[in-house]
Amino acid sequence: MDGDLGEECLIIPPQELLSDYDSVNVAAPMVRYSKLPFRHLVSLYDVHVTHTPMILAKEFSRSAEARRFDFSTSKQERGTFNLVERNGKRRRRVRGVLIAQFASSDSRSFADAVELIHPYVDGVDLNCGCPQDWAYQECIGSFLLRQPDTVRDIVRAAKARVDSNYPISIKIRVDKDLKRTDQLIQTAIHAGVSHITVHGRTRHQSSEGTPVSLSSIKFAVEAARGAVPVLANGDVWTRGDCERFKQETGASAVMSARGLLANPALFSGFTDTPPEAVESFVRLATGYGLIFPLFHRHIAYMLESQLPRQERLYLNTLCSYAGVIDFLQSMGLQWTTEGETSVHSI
Ligand SMILES: Cc1cc2nc3c(=O)[nH]c(=O)nc-3n(C[C@H](O)[C@H](O)[C@H](O)COP(=O)(O)O)c2cc1C
Repeated sequence: MDGDLGEECLIIPPQELLSDYDSVNVAAPMVRYSKLPFRHLVSLYDVHVTHTPMILAKEFSRSAEARRFDFSTSKQERGTFNLVERNGKRRRRVRGVLIAQFASSDSRSFADAVELIHPYVDGVDLNCGCPQDWAYQECIGSFLLRQPDTVRDIVRAAKARVDSNYPISIKIRVDKDLKRTDQLIQTAIHAGVSHITVHGRTRHQSSEGTPVSLSSIKFAVEAARGAVPVLANGDVWTRGDCERFKQETGASAVMSARGLLANPALFSGFTDTPPEAVESFVRLATGYGLIFPLFHRHIAYMLESQLPRQERLYLNTLCSYAGVIDFLQSMGLQWTTEGETSVHSI
């Protein structure tokens, strides 16, 4: 993040940020992990677009308790950045963008959820990629990949409910039959989506087992024919990957998930998590509040490549904030409690 919110900055919708500015970086939606402290952390390291974890639209719209549990935000989490316009090359000060992601199988609950959350975020994404069996059986996530008409109805209903210009995007996986991907993209564009994220794997391919297919993402970019920005997702681990993936696919920007868990500063060009990122994470997690198991997992991911095996095993055995904080202090890390971390919930 290049500055604080005290300065004048442009507040623009996600699709404009993605189409009009060079080098926009995106943090993926991640169940459990992409919560407020982590989103704020990555915004300190050149992440301009962040996502909430996937939230079940039906639960969110029905229950105040689900809303409190699933979503919180703060004034500071998005950050402001000096970005260069693609055309004209002017430098502008721009606010980062926060997108909420919902899973839904029906337009009514999606529109209800969008209506509730839209004042607090800059756009809403429909999950069309979750490959898990339970999700498929509930007709959400990757089930929607072969249901373009349902996607169209969901997108239209949300826009009709809040505002026809309100940004609604989709995040998809590719289909092994790319004609299906083409059909989904055409239908979604016709329904008015603001942008599309393409994870270059099919719903049967795991991230660990199959490398991302850049040629499938390129196919999706070409299918969109420049009508909306397309983001490339999958296997972005370094800043070098970002440039290469954009060149090879023609995507407007790239999105990272596991790469950012391992190194939240990857888009700033760090090859490993810098100590100050761990320090900032402790400050943000303790300031905003984050349940211990998640705090612990984040710290373990960030330090995994840097700790000798014995220390990694020791870190895994710790079972309290105090234990992890002692461990980090014994490594020479320090942090202050300064900085605004007031939370806003719905
Ligand atoms: C822990 C974890 C949680 C995830 N949760 C979500 C989610 O809530 N919504 C979603 O669309 N994708 C989710 N994904 C998929 C990622 O957003 C991304 O598409 C996938 O991991 C490929 O990107 P990567 O190679 O950069 O990890 C998740 C991935 C991980 C590793």
